[in-house]
Amino acid sequence: MLSADCPMLLSFASLDMFILEDCIMVGHPVAYSRSVITELMVPNYANFGGKVHGGTLMSLMDKLAYVCASKHAGNYCVTVSVDNVQFLRPVEVGEVVSLMGSVNYVGKKSLVVGIRGTSENLHEGISKHTNTCYFTMVAKGSGGKPVEVPPLILETDEDVRRFCSALQRRRIREDGLLFMNRYKANFLLDNEVSELLAQERCVLAVPK
Ligand SMILES: CC(C)(COP(=O)(O)OP(=O)(O)OC[C@H]1O[C@@H](n2cnc3c(N)ncnc32)[C@H](O)[C@@H]1OP(=O)(O)O)[C@@H](O)C(=O)NCCC(=O)NCCS
Repeated sequence: MLSADCPMLLSFASLDMFILEDCIMVGHPVAYSRSVITELMVPNYANFGGKVHGGTLMSLMDKLAYVCASKHAGNYCVTVSVDNVQFLRPVEVGEVVSLMGSVNYVGKKSLVVGIRGTSENLHEGISKHTNTCYFTMVAKGSGGKPVEVPPLILETDEDVRRFCSALQRRRIREDGLLFMNRYKANFLLDNEVSELLAQERCVLAVPK
């Protein structure tokens, strides 16, 4: 199960202790910081359509990401970005939402917490998957500066798959950011853009 994309796994798999910048740092297994939040969706969480507000779920997920990341890091953590936020199904008032979070990946000073959300109708006993998303958190030391986080000990095939998936998402995000920065810097309203927009539901009304 070890992949050439994740060479560091070779050392992670067999050791609990790592030497980083002249200090010994002990890693934590994924299970060490795995956490769950369960909350009843009360009427004041509803949006104008009577369903639970997406922002309420985001806020709960942010808290869970904080708990998982801070427990692993042993430090205060802040949210830097959130990937793959999708609300797959509406959550109804009266349902019980359970969010399961675990650290999927650690970089040098950042961590990725993966969160899976389910919502249960207690009367019908039906549970549905409502969302999965990934919070990137950065650990901060007492001076407010980013600090290194302990390595992640991967104990199962699933841990390894999640770590590698997070690594791929990080590469895609960094490539995407570079692409968009270049696109923005070189943007010209030329014939190519006019042709692109001709397929879209917009009216190009910029004076020549
Ligand atoms: C998070 C923050 C400290 C990063 O500062 P920085 O100067 O870019 O720090 P660094 O360059 O040392 O990067 C630290 C890590 O953050 C990661 N990072 C920085 N910006 C990122 C972004 N937009 N998305 C994902 N990861 C990011 C870096 O890749 C690096 O990861 P690594 O150590 O695992 O390689 C800074 O942007 C910050 O304080 N942001 C505000 C966070 C906050 O207040 N959140 C609450 C919202 S109200």
